[in-house]
Amino acid sequence: MDFQFTEEQLMIQQTAREFAQSEIAPTAVERDKNAEFPAEIVKKLGELGFMGMMVSPDYEGAGMDTISYVLAMIEISKVDASVGVIMSVNNSLVTYGLEKWGSPYIKDRFLKDLASGRKLGAFALSEPEAGSDATQQRTYAVKDGNHWVLNGIKNWITNGKYADYYIVIAQTDKEKKHKGITAFVVEKGTPGFEQGVKEDKLGIRSSDTCSLTFTNCRVPEENIIWEVGKGFNFAMNTLNGGRYGIASQACGIADAAFEAAVKYSKVRKAFGTEIANHQAIQFKLSDMAVKVEAAKLLTLQAAALKDAGKTYVKEAAMAKLFSSKTAVECALEAIQVHGGYGYVREYLVERYLRDAKITEIYEGTSEIQKIIIARELLKAE
Ligand code: CAA
Repeated sequence: MDFQFTEEQLMIQQTAREFAQSEIAPTAVERDKNAEFPAEIVKKLGELGFMGMMVSPDYEGAGMDTISYVLAMIEISKVDASVGVIMSVNNSLVTYGLEKWGSPYIKDRFLKDLASGRKLGAFALSEPEAGSDATQQRTYAVKDGNHWVLNGIKNWITNGKYADYYIVIAQTDKEKKHKGITAFVVEKGTPGFEQGVKEDKLGIRSSDTCSLTFTNCRVPEENIIWEVGKGFNFAMNTLNGGRYGIASQACGIADAAFEAAVKYSKVRKAFGTEIANHQAIQFKLSDMAVKVEAAKLLTLQAAALKDAGKTYVKEAAMAKLFSSKTAVECALEAIQVHGGYGYVREYLVERYLRDAKITEIYEGTSEIQKIIIARELLKAE
């Protein structure tokens, strides 16, 4: 695979890097501490075209390719993984699916606002008892005239409190199992739809995560995405795209940890010399460098396949599995290189570890990625 980036891709990467440094970095530490949502930053990301990067300009998206999206996601997440996940959910899990499977009405009514960044989206699949086993949806919807009435609870929803439009997956025919699941767009403010308390999380604390409750919530029929019974397929296909988004986020965290370790090792002295001169540290830096590079290449490979119109299910799962592991490992090693300083909040590396862990859990745990990879491998035999 040839990753000679185009001038446009490099320009987008540079724009993301500069934006991250000038607009995100100054408030990242405080927002993490106070679990404060970066509303202003998200607004500016929208103005830059980063909230609907791959959506066609016909729907007010930026019309960029997936490689550009990955490059931008890495730069943003390198500075603040909380901003990274907000951006990833809106791009990968919300706007992508609405453009591909939404009706003309949905595209006109919801996608334009989401792709331009005027509105924020959330993706509600997980439930208290439906995480990895996503077919076990207890939220259900019953048809009533030209509306569907939703009841149930969704859990761990990124952008849960701040979103305007929510993609909600619900059971519409229990007998049909996964073929009886349907996806809806639900607007904030719809009677019977409430957001729960913001979760107090270990990491990505500046992003917001909460539960959602639906109590006799009436949703118009035209808000159905794709068609009745296609909600599980919609969710699975959408998550394939989410996975290279989270892989990019993990690459950003890993890269940040690696760079912090290199920088610190060049100034910290022990046994009469900078610790970078000790092989014990050099081996750590080398291992981190190899892993970060490999994670980026796997992620770019998944993106390149998507841009080429080829299947990327296995490659996106591989990218997420490896990049998230790399993020955790690099953050741990960066702390080790920093010694005691790595364990306190004054240095950023402890946040990298807290932020990294979730990349092994959401949008399919590492164990789920292995199942997906194995199924695809065996299918090919
Ligand atoms: N891509 C496309 N389609 C897929 C697919 C994939 N990766 N995986 C399954 N499907 C399709 C199958 O083809 C099948 O479709 P048909 O019946 O039309 O042929 C259908 O889905 C059912 O497939 P399976 O029988 O294989 O389903 P399963 O019950 O065995 O589950 C699974 C498969 C891969 C384990 C799936 O349940 C899964 O991905 N679980 C993890 C869920 C997940 O990622 N949750 C994350 C929540 S969202 C989140 O974290 C967002 C956030 O806020 C950050």
